[in-house]
Amino acid sequence: MISQALNDSLTRVGPGSDAGSVLRHYWQPAALSDELISARPVVPVRLLGEDLVLFRDSAGKLGLIDRHCPHRGADLCYGRLEDNGLRCPFHGWHFDRTGQCVEQPGEPEGSHMHENIRATSYPVIEKNGIVWAYMGPGDPPAFPNLDCFRAPDSHVFAFKGLWECNWLQAMEVGIDPAHASFLHRFLQDEDPADSYGKQFRDKAGNTEIPMTKLLRDYPRPEIRVDEMEYGLKLTALRHMEDGRTHVRITNQIFPEAICIPMSREMTITQWHVPVDDTTCYWYSMFTSFKDPVNKTLMREQRLKEHRLPDYAPLKNARNNYGYDPEEQARETYTGMGLDINVHDQWAVESMGRIQDRTREHLGKTDVGIIRYRRMLRDAIAKVKDGQAEALPMRGGVDPQGIFGPLSNDAIADGHEWESVNAQSDAARRADCPWDARL
Ligand code: FES
Ligand SMILES: [Fe+2]
Repeated sequence: MISQALNDSLTRVGPGSDAGSVLRHYWQPAALSDELISARPVVPVRLLGEDLVLFRDSAGKLGLIDRHCPHRGADLCYGRLEDNGLRCPFHGWHFDRTGQCVEQPGEPEGSHMHENIRATSYPVIEKNGIVWAYMGPGDPPAFPNLDCFRAPDSHVFAFKGLWECNWLQAMEVGIDPAHASFLHRFLQDEDPADSYGKQFRDKAGNTEIPMTKLLRDYPRPEIRVDEMEYGLKLTALRHMEDGRTHVRITNQIFPEAICIPMSREMTITQWHVPVDDTTCYWYSMFTSFKDPVNKTLMREQRLKEHRLPDYAPLKNARNNYGYDPEEQARETYTGMGLDINVHDQWAVESMGRIQDRTREHLGKTDVGIIRYRRMLRDAIAKVKDGQAEALPMRGGVDPQGIFGPLSNDAIADGHEWESVNAQSDAARRADCPWDARL
């Protein structure tokens, strides 16, 4: 349980807010590259409570500028994409991708007024299917040397989904290894034909045991949390009756990403990005350590569950997430179908738009959440003290020095889980066509 003042500090993201100032020191996912595949690549972006417009100019370069025209505030999302920039339809003021006003066709001939007009703009970079924005002070940090960025574009599929809640409660579900034994419990083990959301329907750690059964049979994991250069390493150990240990490692990558094992060949790195205080997107990068990914198929599968253009899930609070009490009695713990994304969405949205943490009661299994909040508080204090260079994953990090981080799932005989996990990860990387580490 925390105070209201601390809850506000950790959750609010607008300009000048505590957590918002921390997040602004990192590259943030602003849009999927897929959103810009259009005859008119101009899309609205609401990020960290700021309204922006993202566009690709005729030279193919991206610009991210204030959505409201600096003249009298009209909406530049309706702008004319011409003359290598974006032109406001109200009085024709024309902006280049840096936000500089380059022409005011209605002002008197010879006027130099435009030279002093510049819309707010932010640097953007496109990487493996996502357009990233840096909205903070000074120079942006180097991109972290994570698998999802090191892998070639052919081996990464990116997608996103809208959740109607604050970003922190969305992030906190990813550092809560205990919930999978309940929220994602399937009462039967057979695999459904549709692979979407099958994360826990694979076999555990390359063995004969279905992950669903393991999670169901061992609902009290021993959870260890280590502070790492990049954030937190969470190790969930399930000590089995036959003496073996199941180990599942997930990682929190500061400030708002998690990296989780999806299968033997794939990890998911997922950012929980604030749209504003009460809405967020998850952006996932599915990284394959083996074959190239079939992006068309993966996108089609996910678009069956989401609507465009805002990537809002079709199951949501308005239709009770598809809740069926009969299904809850027979098939799944939630009664909301087999897609685990829907389970997580229900869990975080049902808390309210911003979870009231003055009323929560954290237990031993919430150790990851407790440690993460401590890291975030520490980061807020550093930014206030002008120590931004001391933030995790900022300055001083040798980009060649971080690989992974490892997210893995393995079963060890006895308690040799540390070495078994390392071997399992090494085997995956040895087969990987793009991993040059070994
Ligand atoms: S409001 Fe945009 S040009 Fe006047
Ligand atoms: Fe989950």
